[in-house]
Amino acid sequence: MKSPSSLEGRSLLSLRDISCEELVQLVDLAASLKQKKRGGTRGSELERKSIAMLFEKASTRTRCATSVAAADEGAHSDYLDAKGMHLGKKESVADTARVLGRMFDGIMFRGYKQQTVQTLAECSGVPVWNGLTDDCHPTQALADLLTVREHFGELKGLTLLYVGDGRNNVANSLMLGCAMAGMNFVNCTPEELMPATALVDAATAIAAGNGCEVTICSDPAGAAPGANVVYTDVWVSMGEEDKMDERLRLLRPYQVNMALMEKTGKLASDEVIFLHCLPAFHDADTDLTRESGALEVTDEVFGAGFSRVFDEAENRVHTIKALMVATLT
Ligand code: CP
Ligand code: NVA
Repeated sequence: MKSPSSLEGRSLLSLRDISCEELVQLVDLAASLKQKKRGGTRGSELERKSIAMLFEKASTRTRCATSVAAADEGAHSDYLDAKGMHLGKKESVADTARVLGRMFDGIMFRGYKQQTVQTLAECSGVPVWNGLTDDCHPTQALADLLTVREHFGELKGLTLLYVGDGRNNVANSLMLGCAMAGMNFVNCTPEELMPATALVDAATAIAAGNGCEVTICSDPAGAAPGANVVYTDVWVSMGEEDKMDERLRLLRPYQVNMALMEKTGKLASDEVIFLHCLPAFHDADTDLTRESGALEVTDEVFGAGFSRVFDEAENRVHTIKALMVATLT
């Protein structure tokens, strides 16, 4: 198992912090760590390390994946709910970072502003990993790429169609991740929700160097043919709850349903999978769907044989573990 030595001591605040080669090496390392765990081997790569999990926003997968990954390799982890801390209230983010850096070997942060995770990295002196901010969700993209590669055996040349809120954290990181891995990325979203031009330009330049393309468009039926991966995310991200009515109006035509999956032309040949970072509004057991029915994806697609959403969720553990091992050892 080869850990990319160039990543030692570094942070991952966005996928722009690593090279295309390092991205693929992290996916490779995650695959071997997954195999190792499946084989029943208890790891010791992170022995005597202490990991802080500093979270401003809610989380199921990122929080659990980090603590399980740490434990699997012998590290200790502490969950720090930002609401119960002084962070940014009685104490600056910089001072909190300096304190955490004296006590912990690495920090997984989830929160609002990208500036907060940047300050944590600048001032703590230890590797900081972005477990989701308003701007991006890089550790999610690592798990997504591992999941795609597990199904297709490769990444280069495949096409991922993202349908929904085209400017959210997950879409932003996927755009970069696909371009870096040599996958075509199609972002299908209403005009009002298109990603920032600077990010699209950066991803397009990376894609050109890797023989693939970034496409931004607004017609799901026109975008679907040829897609190998259909991906969606919630229509309203954490922190944007006041935008619900507007998003429902804009995004109803962007629901991932069987009609859209059929339009890929790849269902019959088993050459298309469905992914969602989760949590998802597909069944009738959430606050939102109880009243309005399925939102971004139907129950039928979510539960179909071609849906790989729970492999994807599990892969959060293996990819976060790879990131911690590569940056801490
Ligand atoms: N996909 C993801 O980040 O899930 P959580 O919000 O549960 O961490
Ligand atoms: N875009 C979503 C992702 C959740 C994992 C959000 O930020 O809420």
